[in-house]
This record gives sequence, structure tokens and C-alpha cells, in this order.
Amino acid sequence: MTSQATRNISEVEELFDYMVPNANSTPVVVKGAGAEVWDADGNRFLDLEAGPGVVSVGHCHPRIVEAIKTQAEQLLQSPGRFHSPLTLKLARRIAALLQDRLKRVFFANSGAEANDGAIKISLKHAMATGKRGFGIFTLEHSFHGRLSLALSLTGMAARKKGFGPYASFPGVVHLSAPYCYRCPLGLEPSSCGTRCATEIEEAMKTKVPGEAAIMIAEPILGVGGIIVPPADYWPKVQAILRRHNIILIHDEVFTGFGRTGKMFGHQHWDVQPDVVTFAKAIGGGIPLGGFIATDKLASTFEDGDHFTTFGANNQVGIAAGHAVLDVIADENLPKRAETIGNLLMEGFRKAMTRFDFIGDVRGLGLMIGVELVEDRASRKPATALAKRIQAEMRDRGVIIGLTGNYGCVLRITPPLVMTEAQAEEVLALFTDICAKLAR
Ligand SMILES: Cc1ncc(COP(=O)(O)O)c(C=O)c1O
Repeated sequence: MTSQATRNISEVEELFDYMVPNANSTPVVVKGAGAEVWDADGNRFLDLEAGPGVVSVGHCHPRIVEAIKTQAEQLLQSPGRFHSPLTLKLARRIAALLQDRLKRVFFANSGAEANDGAIKISLKHAMATGKRGFGIFTLEHSFHGRLSLALSLTGMAARKKGFGPYASFPGVVHLSAPYCYRCPLGLEPSSCGTRCATEIEEAMKTKVPGEAAIMIAEPILGVGGIIVPPADYWPKVQAILRRHNIILIHDEVFTGFGRTGKMFGHQHWDVQPDVVTFAKAIGGGIPLGGFIATDKLASTFEDGDHFTTFGANNQVGIAAGHAVLDVIADENLPKRAETIGNLLMEGFRKAMTRFDFIGDVRGLGLMIGVELVEDRASRKPATALAKRIQAEMRDRGVIIGLTGNYGCVLRITPPLVMTEAQAEEVLALFTDICAKLAR
């Protein structure tokens, strides 16, 4: 770190103790624009985290800022129990992105709340339509949030340590993830028959209390290590779920709104979830989330079954949501995510030919993971090395996330407005740091 940055940190570090213990670290960021942020001393950083995944349209996009300002002067919170035209129109716009196949929206404030609501409505529907059990399938290595139910669904044990029953919602069963680089079933992707998908039927016999009612999963696993399933995974899963009348919820909190090169992550495959949850990017930096379900499924909710004070009534968040969708369309951000994502992945793969500690480079659009290993033969997670690269990048002006159950996956999820020049800057710096560490 420069001495300037050190000064900035020392001014506020005595305040760190006023927050519950957390994983936050320096720099102390005070300003952002596009894919860049600055600390209080004016040091500039490229942001490969974006929130994570929140500011897909870039930090402080002028159109988002303008929409927030305009709405703030008009109406901040609509009185609960009255329709808001702005909210109704945003629901219609989100439904249109899913061709109205999914149609009924509930607005919440965060990803964990969105998932909680999606499970609630799905369970009610399953019970109302005759299911004699409440088994909920989810995936190992998944991440669904930090509130009780969402944490129970999450397939990252370290996140649950010390919380006992708070993180153990009844009926939750974790299935093997389609993590081909570290196949949990010890199989080779070329000949495995996508066993991680077909094991669902076995799990129904051995692990589920009564009957399975729901499966919730990220179409591409994010926090668990940017895990992209093989091409036939989702179609196979869907066929099994349909055979057994099991509701499919796709958690698109991270993958939604263009990040992967399509509006929603599941649209890369022939799969039609019954419910999609969303948050992060839709608010452009203002808390907003929710779920969208089929008309049939949603019709089980009766008035009073579900509500939150903010969500649909938070007019600033809703206005930001409209502006986010405008910017995504007008700037063709899914396409941009694909182009810049391919450029970055090509660069990381080139680096892989030089450095044996880069085990895998994977992703779709601007949702990229670079998995670091001690050597490619052993595939042993290189957690310390990953931390070192993260720190070196930060010290040289690039903020990058570290993720996955083994803490060895560099997470590259920048704002989708990242330029080619900025992507080249990232690659040059990364390669330089790898060369230094390889010596
Ligand atoms: C896929 C997914 N679902 C849910 C969440 C939780 O969202 P929130 O932190 O807004 O509750 C996250 C957060 O990273 C996420 O990546």
C-alpha cells in the first residue's frame, strides 16, 4: 500500500470496532465510477467484485443516480397496501424478460429474503397440491444467503459453524454439485453420465423425509467457486424433477440481469424453472430483490401470506430497478459481458499455459473463476497462494474476490461496463504477479 493509503486507513481504523466482527478489509472505499473505485486519498482501484455482483451497470451510473434523485423528490416509500404504478410496471418488465412464462412477482430487499419467500410459496403450493413430504434439495457448494433458511440451504459448512439449529431447516438435503474439476463422485466428466444429476432419484429413496417437494439451486454456482454445470446437467435435472412433480427454484441472485451473457443464467440451457429469485444487480446499489413464479404456483398465496415493509413499497429501489433495466438494454450489457468475459478468460487461459498453479479457468460472461492449486497434477487447493495473489493485486490497484469452500478460487465479477483496456490492465497485472510468484 502507498503511504497515502495508510494515512486514510489510520483515520478510520479506530471505528472498525463499532461494527460486529466482519471480514471487511482495506482499502476504505469512498467513491466509484464505472468499474473503478477510489479511496479517500484518491488511490484508484479496478473493481473485479462489483458488490459482489451488485453494480453490474457500474458504480454510480449517471442514469441510475438521476433516477434515484428524481424519485427521492417524488415519493420515497409508498404507503403499504396501496398499489404503486412504478412497482407494477417493474414487475411486468421482469416478467417480460422471462416471456411471461414466469409472471407473478414478490419484491423483497435482499437475496436471502428472496430465497426465503420462494421456498415459502413453493412449499405452500406443494402441500396444497398433495405432496406428502417437504424435502428440499439443494447443492453442495451452493450459496443462498445468511438468514436461517437461506443458510440452511447453503452448501458451505464453514458459513454455518457455531450456529447449531439456526442453520438446519428441516427437510433440507444437499446433493452433489456439478463441480467437474473436483467431481464429488470421483468420476471423469467424459464418461460420468452426469451422475450428479441422476443421483437425485437415489437421494429421494435414501435421504428425503417423506417426499421431495422442491429443488433450489444457482444455475451457475457463484460464491461456492464459480461452478458451471456441464451442458446436459440442467435438462437432465429438470426431466427428473418433472417426473416426480418437484418444483425447481433457480436462485439468480448473482447470475441475474446479464452477468453471464444472457439476461438470466438458466437461459444458457434448455431448462424452465418454476420460480426465479433475484436481487443484487436489479437495484444498481439500492437494496432490492424478489422472486418471480408461474401464475399457477403463485396462486396458492392468499392475501396476508407474505409481506415485507420495504420491497415493493421502496420506491427509490423500484425506480433504480427501472433505470437498471434501461441501461442493461440500451448499453447491450449481456453482450458486453460475453465479449469482455471471453477476453478475460482467454487471457487467464493463456496464463495457465505458463503457470502450473492455475488449475482451472471457468465461467460464463463476467462470472469467472480462476482456481489455484499447488500443482495441476495433485489439484490440491492453494489457499495461501490465492490470498497472496489477492493481496498483491490489491496493493497494485485491483480488487479481486476469493471464493469457494477451499478459498482458492479468484472470483472475477466486475461491473459489466468494464472496458477492454481495463480488462487488458487486469490481465497484464495478473500475469506479472504470477511470474513473480513462480520465480
Ligand atoms: C446466489 C446467491 N443467493 C443469495 C445470496 C444472498 O444475497 P443477500 O446477501 O442479498 O442476502 C447471494 C449473495 O452473495 C448469492 O450469491
